[in-house]
Amino acid sequence: MSRRAVLPDARRRAVTAVLGRQWGRPPARAVGAAYAPANVALVKYWGKRDEVLNLPNTDSLSLSLGPLGTWTSIRPSDRDRFRMNGRCLAANDPACTRLRAYLDLFRGPECPAFEVESRNTVPTAAGVASSASAYASIAIALDMLFGWRLAPGELSVLARLGSGSAARSIALGFVRWRRGRRSDGLDSRAEPLSATWPGLRVGLWMVRRGAKAVGSREAMRRCGRTSPLYAAWPATVAADLREVLAALRARDLERLGTAAEGNALAMHATMIAARPPVIYWTGATLRALAEVAALRREGVAVWATMDAGPNLKLLFEVREERALRERIPALRIVDPWDVRDAGAGGAEMPGVE
Ligand code: PMV
Repeated sequence: MSRRAVLPDARRRAVTAVLGRQWGRPPARAVGAAYAPANVALVKYWGKRDEVLNLPNTDSLSLSLGPLGTWTSIRPSDRDRFRMNGRCLAANDPACTRLRAYLDLFRGPECPAFEVESRNTVPTAAGVASSASAYASIAIALDMLFGWRLAPGELSVLARLGSGSAARSIALGFVRWRRGRRSDGLDSRAEPLSATWPGLRVGLWMVRRGAKAVGSREAMRRCGRTSPLYAAWPATVAADLREVLAALRARDLERLGTAAEGNALAMHATMIAARPPVIYWTGATLRALAEVAALRREGVAVWATMDAGPNLKLLFEVREERALRERIPALRIVDPWDVRDAGAGGAEMPGVE
């Protein structure tokens, strides 16, 4: 194996070694099982200061997607066996390679391999990234299996090593991921905020299905290296973060929605200005954004956010549900705090009583 191939794993292992005071011990139980929700960022994570450890250039802030997420169980095994949504993962599947490399961080003499069963409650075509909920649920399930009893912030660090946005999927509700300053990233962790907002809802509006041409890792890299607008991104995030935190304190939806929508559009602006450009929007995306603006003019309090894709996520309160269902019949509405439909029966989830 080449030196270049070994180094990234050594850096990730160094992080787990600091966290894992009890690493190398045999599993504490026969199985670890956990549920983690997907999340939508209100202030986006866009750009990395370290690509190996998934360390972000800025803080970000998200809201969980309640019953849309991943449920994972992990057992020790003699060889790796991965099942996802009831199907065995082929050894050459990129998801399998990524998971195997992640689990390499936790193998030991007592536990040389793992049997992992993951089930997404996010419909595959829902336009919601499942890697965030997948790696958060894996980190929580490993913690349960080995009996480490890591704090939420430490679980967030472990989840981040699998996928950046997974750092924020370790809890329900509003979660802030702090950028951190350390080169090992131990201070780059997400923690749930105490703010709650029981009437707040997220609507998933799929305007286009199918795989995207450019993944978020490549898009972030291209923006950081070539987009003349990326230089303005950290200051945009700092201002939007202040706005969102103030809006949460005041439960002011207009303030929250305006900041979240503006932040998402600013992120897409950095992509459009990259060379070559990354344009996730389609004609249907623009029509949907225009519809959201029209609804607002008609007095419906709704704002949109978007991730690295053409689909929209709407932010609104329960009282607008009827009007929105009428105008957008395909809207999938979720309560960020309600995990009853997640099929999590008995699974561990920090923050769930
Ligand atoms: O963690 P990744 O590589 O899937 O990146 C996610 C980036 C965005 O979804 C576009 C923004 C965010 O903060 O989730």
